[in-house]
Amino acid sequence: MRFLSTLTIAALVATASAAALAKPAAEPASPTQAQIVAARKASFTMSAGIVAAMKHTIDADEDVNKWAFGARGLSAWAAALPAMFPAGSNITGSEALPTVWSDNAGFRAIAAKYSEDAAKLSDLAKANDKPGFAAQWAVVRADCESCHKTYRTK
Ligand code: HEC
Repeated sequence: MRFLSTLTIAALVATASAAALAKPAAEPASPTQAQIVAARKASFTMSAGIVAAMKHTIDADEDVNKWAFGARGLSAWAAALPAMFPAGSNITGSEALPTVWSDNAGFRAIAAKYSEDAAKLSDLAKANDKPGFAAQWAVVRADCESCHKTYRTK
């Protein structure tokens, strides 16, 4: 009997470990506000990297067709970014001003303009239109500034 019960315990332990393996500790269904703020900051930082690297290409008078993909990424991020500012996400560590929520229509309008302008930038890159790309790059860059002026602390 003692042998059997040892086997039974071993079987139970094996079953329990298999169950534990099958069900890893799940993330909560929705990200926390802190995770959302970290994700949007990371996306903004990556966009700043892309925009700065584009400027190097312009200044060096290199082909711009390599930026079709990056500009498309900026456009997609611009379209997605308003959703990354849910109510209550103006937590400590965020530089978003309360105007993001009090004037949400204005915030969304600039994001929509940024998305369209970056899509145009992608088309100009695809066509390898160097002067057109340089001019449109300045338009996109101005979208960053116009939003930060009203909706970001610095
Ligand atoms: C529609 C408004 C809007 C547009 C357009 C916009 N930003 Fe921002 N940006 C913000 C806000 C709001 C924050 C603050 C986010 C936070 O701290 O929660 C921010 C933060 C940032 C940060 C700081 C990230 C960090 O780690 O703290 C960088 C860098 C940045 N933006 C770059 C850019 C660049 C480059 C562009 C244009 C290509 C751009 N942004 C366009 C609203 C915008």
